[in-house]
Amino acid sequence: MASAKSPVVDIHTHVYPPSYIKLLKSRSSIPYIRSFPPSPALRLVILPAEDTESTSRGRPVGPEYYDINKKIEFMDTHSIDISVISLANPWLDWVPAAEAAKAAGRINSEVNEECGKFPGRLFAFGTLPLSGGKDIIVTEIARLKELKYMRGIILGTTGLGKGLDDPELLPIFQALQDAELPIFLHPHYGLPGSVWGERASDYGHVLPLALGFPLETSIGVTRMILSGVFEKVPDLQMILAHSGGTLPFLAGRIESCIEHDAHLKAEGKLGKRRKTVWDILKKNIYLDAVIYGEIGLKAAIQASGEDRVMFGTDHPFFPPLDEEGGKWLSVETNYEAIKSALGSGSEEAKGALGGNAIRVLNLRV
Ligand code: URA
Ligand code: ZN
Repeated sequence: MASAKSPVVDIHTHVYPPSYIKLLKSRSSIPYIRSFPPSPALRLVILPAEDTESTSRGRPVGPEYYDINKKIEFMDTHSIDISVISLANPWLDWVPAAEAAKAAGRINSEVNEECGKFPGRLFAFGTLPLSGGKDIIVTEIARLKELKYMRGIILGTTGLGKGLDDPELLPIFQALQDAELPIFLHPHYGLPGSVWGERASDYGHVLPLALGFPLETSIGVTRMILSGVFEKVPDLQMILAHSGGTLPFLAGRIESCIEHDAHLKAEGKLGKRRKTVWDILKKNIYLDAVIYGEIGLKAAIQASGEDRVMFGTDHPFFPPLDEEGGKWLSVETNYEAIKSALGSGSEEAKGALGGNAIRVLNLRV
């Protein structure tokens, strides 16, 4: 365990609670879990890009995906004091409308109960019944606010099916702002398969995970910015996965494209009341530190501020390919990036490792 003075908090760490695993095992289209004979081993297939004959489908799925004791074991191995767990993608996006309310209620309560088994060590981001319609979603937001360990919600980029610039989402963003529940924005769908070309399956999962995921997040949040969400719901708080995708790096270019756009000017959208991408990065956005490199992390820190960046692991994804047990390279790389970018033991590094998350997400029981 890390010393009591500088707790380490992992804000990007997933679970599929047992009832969600049961749902996945009952399905034959993505997302699903099944074996591929002759191997009896179960595999989790969730990404559109990994559901092909030509790649090794999905990934092996063991108890690290659903057993909360494994999460605690992982935390202990990596000196993580507190984890803010979230349902992994693709959440409840695919659930039929009539089942959405019940599924979200059950899964959110189950995750909250799992947190209660380790008081003070586990908190959570809840999941919204997105297919259920506005009233059901807003009702679940109110319920999440009352659940002891819930500290926000995890959201993909499709929203109600039309993306995050959909005006129908505004009452939901408003409800989240009013409940002071931040959105943890996380990718899932990536980019259309045609972008990766004919040889994509030769490259395993690299292209969709390394590039598809971050671009999806960047596009999702840029569409929110362009549609004026942050002027209409000015205190909405978001935590962007993977250090904002490419947003810190591209913010200047996005700003320049906005300022030089004749259509936006003609529509009167370039006035003084417009919040710039830079304003939004500093007032509405937090960034996780799941970027695996000093340069990317420095861009995140410069864009949003060292008090708005938070350590994460993406567990149980990116396990070591060979050795069993011991420390994970993916986690160590993120620790190293924080140390190099902010200085080992500095107040800023302590903030990024845990202090910022404790303050922003109120992680005290
Ligand atoms: N990390 C995630 O959170 N989800 C994936 O599907 C892969 C990596
Ligand atoms: Zn993740």
